[in-house]
Amino acid sequence: MSQQAEQFKKIVAHCKEYGFVYPSSEIYDGLSAVYDYGPYGVELKNNLKRYWWESMTKLHENIVGLDAAIFMHPKTWKASGHVDAFNDPLIDNKDSKKRYRADVLVEDHIQKIQEKINKEVKKAEKRFGEAFDKAQFLETNGRVLEYSKQIAEITERLATAMTDGDLDGLKQLIVDLDITCPESGSRNWTEVRQFNLMFSTQLGTIAGEESKLYLRPETAQGIFVNFLNVQKTTRQKIPFGIAQVGKAFRNEIVARQFIFRMREFEQMEMQFFVKPGEEMQWYEFWKDFRMKWHRALGTPEDKLQFHDHDNLAHYANAAVDIQFDFPFGFKELEGIHSRTDFDLKSHEAFSGKKMQYFDPEEEKSYIPYVVETSIGCDRMFLATLSQALQEETVPDAEGKDSTRTVMKLHPAIAPVKCAILPLLKNKEELTQKAREVFDRLKFSFQCQYDEKDAIGRRYRRQDAIGTPYCVTIDFDTLEDDTVTIRDRDTLVQERVPISALEGIIRDKVDMNNLLRAL
Ligand code: GAP
Repeated sequence: MSQQAEQFKKIVAHCKEYGFVYPSSEIYDGLSAVYDYGPYGVELKNNLKRYWWESMTKLHENIVGLDAAIFMHPKTWKASGHVDAFNDPLIDNKDSKKRYRADVLVEDHIQKIQEKINKEVKKAEKRFGEAFDKAQFLETNGRVLEYSKQIAEITERLATAMTDGDLDGLKQLIVDLDITCPESGSRNWTEVRQFNLMFSTQLGTIAGEESKLYLRPETAQGIFVNFLNVQKTTRQKIPFGIAQVGKAFRNEIVARQFIFRMREFEQMEMQFFVKPGEEMQWYEFWKDFRMKWHRALGTPEDKLQFHDHDNLAHYANAAVDIQFDFPFGFKELEGIHSRTDFDLKSHEAFSGKKMQYFDPEEEKSYIPYVVETSIGCDRMFLATLSQALQEETVPDAEGKDSTRTVMKLHPAIAPVKCAILPLLKNKEELTQKAREVFDRLKFSFQCQYDEKDAIGRRYRRQDAIGTPYCVTIDFDTLEDDTVTIRDRDTLVQERVPISALEGIIRDKVDMNNLLRAL
């Protein structure tokens, strides 16, 4: 197993063991690509949502929130293009009977070629040591150039086939690249077919097309149909934005990689309504802002990159992904799309209601253009955990204590901010004092009281869930009202008065630390 696959396995196991993420309905053997968030998972996820929400609605006076229903009038999805065009191309292998996304098979093939390039780079790095110039190597090495050419050609063919909806072209690409089924190893493929990703259900008791409802595949449409309600009730002037966090559902063909690709997931989306012609300047603005949002969490530069879309969705005139270096390679974490006036125009046509904004400066009405930022909470959760979960050597420790598993989350998003630990469980004066400290801090922070096991094991448990501070109550506390406070990252323990705890913790865990960096 590769080092990255090993790391991914560890993340999944850690999520289960420490109460971050469980498989859904596990006692019935789970439900494919559906997951439940445990006690620490829900705290972390809520903190990520809060960081996003406040970065939108608190920092921008022209962005307001919305919480639209999951069910929408079925015409919504006709107007948005999802009924006709929200498809993935699927292909079956006749021997293994496994179903794949045809484009993902090709992308995986490209990834394999990319890994060959990475290997060449690693070898050269070793050979040339400090003198190694990666950029020059990538531009001049014969083998790397050949691999890069292959990637460019395949990417181009894939993009053309996807944009044109050319299913035969896609099948031919799979045949030409000699792609085999990962399960059976055979090339015995069916034709490529389109598969609509929306889940449907029925309204009321009458079955049939008339009462067919869809579970929303994106939250954005709830924003579009409410655009004028929000604009009028909040008296916003263009440009302005509407932010929403909520569930979305997609019947994904390839449901793997844990919470990366789920059938029920959560999105954080913001639609920014602008004057036609100004959309590209706002597109650049939001690209920049969203990248800053990610970097403020402490994610290293080389773990994030922009990736322009090779094939544009039916509604976009420009689109870029922010990709994160997941344990399975660089993949989409967030999309920033210039959606033109496609959605509002289409809702106007389908509903027969005007979706126009009256611009008081221009003294005319028009349908605004829209720039959207759209990120999956669950994908953000996985990226955060992949980055934070580390195993490290503990200085001056021996045996099994010489390494520790620590979740180096930014303190503002950590599920528990502070653990309160009486040194000994069976000394009532210590436990009582610890309870007093807990009761004092619980109004300000998510705290945890823990008296079970030796203090070292309790520290390790808190490290594993990413708690920035552990406060220990010992016999000196009873004398002078001081405690030790241990920093998760530096492991430094300081003696401080109980009265100073709240200030010390707040300095580190305040969400404004993140917001001020934007
Ligand atoms: N409104 C635009 C839209 O929905 P998208 O690129 O299809 O665009 C936006 O999705 C984001 O939603 C993605 O970048 C990803 O983070 C998340 N997402 C999409 N499908 C997902 C899935 N099946 N499981 C988890 N997250 C998903």
